[in-house]
Amino acid sequence: MERITTVAAMRAYRGVQRVAGRRVGLVPTMGALHRGHLSLVERARADCDAVVVSIYVNPLQFGPNEDFLAYPRDLERDQQLLRAAGVDVVFVPEEGEIHVTGHRTRVEVQGMQDVLCGRSRPGHFRGVTTVVAKLFAIVKPDIACFGEKDAQQLRIIRRMARDMHEETTIVSCPTVREDDGLALSSRNAYLTPDERRAAPVLCRALRSAAARARSGETDAGRLAALARETITREPLARIDYVETVDGETLEPVVIAGPGTLLAVAARFGRARLIDNMTL
Ligand code: PAJ
Repeated sequence: MERITTVAAMRAYRGVQRVAGRRVGLVPTMGALHRGHLSLVERARADCDAVVVSIYVNPLQFGPNEDFLAYPRDLERDQQLLRAAGVDVVFVPEEGEIHVTGHRTRVEVQGMQDVLCGRSRPGHFRGVTTVVAKLFAIVKPDIACFGEKDAQQLRIIRRMARDMHEETTIVSCPTVREDDGLALSSRNAYLTPDERRAAPVLCRALRSAAARARSGETDAGRLAALARETITREPLARIDYVETVDGETLEPVVIAGPGTLLAVAARFGRARLIDNMTL
């Protein structure tokens, strides 16, 4: 596995791949890797000749009171996992490579960036789309893989790629979960043992609402209320939102149908966790 730390070297690698007619897949990450990230790597490997994984804790997507400094970082361990997973390149841009001194440009997907997580994390998705647009410009991947776990992020990046005539195909990958249903997340590391025991309530709430939808309930408000009640019964959970939205536009829906997304966010101590299910 090659380790690349500059934009120039990443471009040179990409150029060599292009001349050789090799398909390149990109998996953007912030490190602290787990099986969720590795499932994206698997997906990219199945479809491409070369897989690039970027590791960059992007300051632009963290709010002033968020966990940028505390965000878990373990580059040695991450690199071992990626080597074992058969990754070709780990792209770990040095400070100042991605966001050059004096940079002023932002990419934003209007409307979709302001709902759900965007309400409690203003500026977050603008930071995400800006860094992903830069990664696309540097790596020019044939495909880029993103997890359904971050459903809003995935929808926003799809829309950005469409609007910007990106040549990169956006591939979505299913959420990887622990045995008790908890969606894998780098932020699960913040949970105390009690909070860890409480956290699967998010998945349980989504599953019970999804089951209700399968047995014929189409009232989106009632489905969201059912999920909300389940989470409210867990004293360690503080709900941020429980919403039913259109799976493409993220606009609120009244009648749930195929493709409707039920999305939740809640705090457990200092961890803010999200999860979602397509009904
Ligand atoms: P990060 O949280 O490291 O996640 C990187 C990718 O892994 C995202 O596409 C995310 O959806 C996916 N992922 C995380 N947990 C997953 C799980 N349990 N199952 C499946 N996929 C999962 O998301 C980001 O980083 C950043 O915002 C980034 C896109 C890299 C831009 O900075």
